[in-house]
Amino acid sequence: MTLPTNSDAGRENFRTSVIQLDRPGDPSVFGEQTRAEAAQIIARYPAGQSRSALLPLLHLVQSEQGYVTSDGIAFCADILDITKAQVSAVVTFYTMYKRSPTGEYLVSVCTNTLCGMLGGDDIFAALGQTLGVGDNQTTEDGTITLEHAECLAACDYAPIVTVNYEFFDNQTVASAHKLVNALRGGERPMPTRGAPLCSFKQIERQIAGFHTAETLAPDANTSGVPTEIGVHLAVERGESAPSYAVERTDARTAEASAARAASQPTSAHDAPLETSASDEQHPQDSGGAAEPEPGKGT
Ligand code: FES
Repeated sequence: MTLPTNSDAGRENFRTSVIQLDRPGDPSVFGEQTRAEAAQIIARYPAGQSRSALLPLLHLVQSEQGYVTSDGIAFCADILDITKAQVSAVVTFYTMYKRSPTGEYLVSVCTNTLCGMLGGDDIFAALGQTLGVGDNQTTEDGTITLEHAECLAACDYAPIVTVNYEFFDNQTVASAHKLVNALRGGERPMPTRGAPLCSFKQIERQIAGFHTAETLAPDANTSGVPTEIGVHLAVERGESAPSYAVERTDARTAEASAARAASQPTSAHDAPLETSASDEQHPQDSGGAAEPEPGKGT
């Protein structure tokens, strides 16, 4: 079998998205319940800023249809009173909005530098070979969509694979194969960390903000030894983080900053250059009485 390359997959995704954005879309395919839930999402945002609800609304659409269809785009545009072009701009910007049908499980393999070098590239290639799919493509049985992902914010467990955004840490080609075979066989292996697995549509509903007691999984294990090593070391050594209080810049540093700022070329398009030299004067600078810093007395 000839496997599709990433660029083939990219062209296919582009073609699919162009086709979808070309279709007018029908917002009425979403029923009363979805409209009511969309209204709940919009109500979370301040009056006059309803378009901020677009991100969770798109997850709600994916929870219904498995991806963002032209109908989903029309639905969001209709309910937020914005244009379909505005919705499409968001859909095509973020990789978590899928533009072709997604499988029951979205398997994301981190191929960013650290994971890639520690085996993520091999895992992605091996899974693609086994499943017969390229990036962002779905197996014929509709079980798995494979995607390569940028850093999944779990570098201390590299290489990382997530399934519907739950973590499977320290993967190898063999363990990743075992994982996808189990998923295709109808099993739901427990993630190394995070809540038990659910389907892609179910996790999209959670991301849209609709939880049940089970899906919240309050007992889920969310951190592990590598995450906490730094904290334990700091406790052992009696170290603590410096306070967030802004340190006062001494006169010499302020002078150097001002000189640097003056030497930097600006154009009419630059934002005003703000440095410590342009900060408002603090009462202490002008000899006025200063408020004591908390816990430091006078
Ligand atoms: S590089 Fe893979 S999780 Fe950060």
